[in-house]
Amino acid sequence: IGREIVVYDEVESTNSKANELLKQGYPSGTVVIADRQTKGKGRLGRTWISPPGKNLYMSIALKPTIPPKYATLLTLTSVVACTTALRRYTDIPVVIKWPNDMLIDDKKVGGILTELKIEGEKIKAAVVGIGINVNMTEEDMPEEIKEIASSLKIYRKEDLSRGLLAVEIIKEFDKWYQLLEKRQRKTIIDRWMQLSGTIGRQVKIIFTDREILATAEAIDEEGRLIVKLNDGTYEKISAGDVTLLRA
Ligand code: BTN
Repeated sequence: IGREIVVYDEVESTNSKANELLKQGYPSGTVVIADRQTKGKGRLGRTWISPPGKNLYMSIALKPTIPPKYATLLTLTSVVACTTALRRYTDIPVVIKWPNDMLIDDKKVGGILTELKIEGEKIKAAVVGIGINVNMTEEDMPEEIKEIASSLKIYRKEDLSRGLLAVEIIKEFDKWYQLLEKRQRKTIIDRWMQLSGTIGRQVKIIFTDREILATAEAIDEEGRLIVKLNDGTYEKISAGDVTLLRA
C-alpha cells in the first residue's frame, strides 16, 4: 500500500480519482490524496464537506482477493487501521461507531466510504475513501453538522499535520489489509470490537421503511451488527443508519 501516492490540489472526489487511476493501470495499493474536493461523497448518498487546507481526503485503490460476501470486512479493516493510526498519532481515545464512523465524545471526526465493483463471484476493484476532520474548526463547519461533528483540532486545541497522519494511516492500512488478505478475520473483528464504542450501547437504527431500538451486542464474521431488540429477539444488520443513544 502506498508505493504510488498521487497528490492533487483539487479533485471532485478522491474516490472517483482512485477508481480512474486503477482503470488506467495503476497498481493495487495506489493512494490518492487531495487538498480539497468539489464533490466529496459520504455514505448513503450524502455530501462530505471538503474545505481546502484543513482535512484529510484520501482514497486507496485496491484489488482484493476476498469473496464479495466479506466486502463489509474491507470497510471494518479500514476503520480499524484508521482508528489505530489516529490513536497512535493523537493520543485521543477515538472510538468506532458501526460500521465505519470515527468518533470523539460521540461526535464524528472521520468516515469511510468503500466503493466496489463486483463481477460474479469476484471483487474486480475496490476504493476505500477516508475522510478525517483534522484542522477544521467549528467556524469552518456548516450549521447542520456543528452538533454532530468534531475534529482533531477541536479536541487537541492545536494544528496537526495532515501529512504525518496520512503516513500513519497508510502504514496501519498496509498491516491490516495484509491480515484481511490472509483471511485473518477473527483478528480484525476482535480489534474492531476493542476499538468500538457501539457494542453494549443502546442504539436506534433507521432503515428506509422502519426504525428499531435495540442493544448492540457484537459483529459477526461478515461484519454485520448483531443487535438485541427489547423483546429479546436478535437481528443482524448489514445496512442502516445507527444512532447511539445516551448511556
Ligand atoms: C461517511 O459518510 O461517513 C463516509 C465519508 C467518506 C469521505 C471520504 S473523503 C475522501 C473520499 N472521497 C470521497 O468523495 N469520499 C471519501
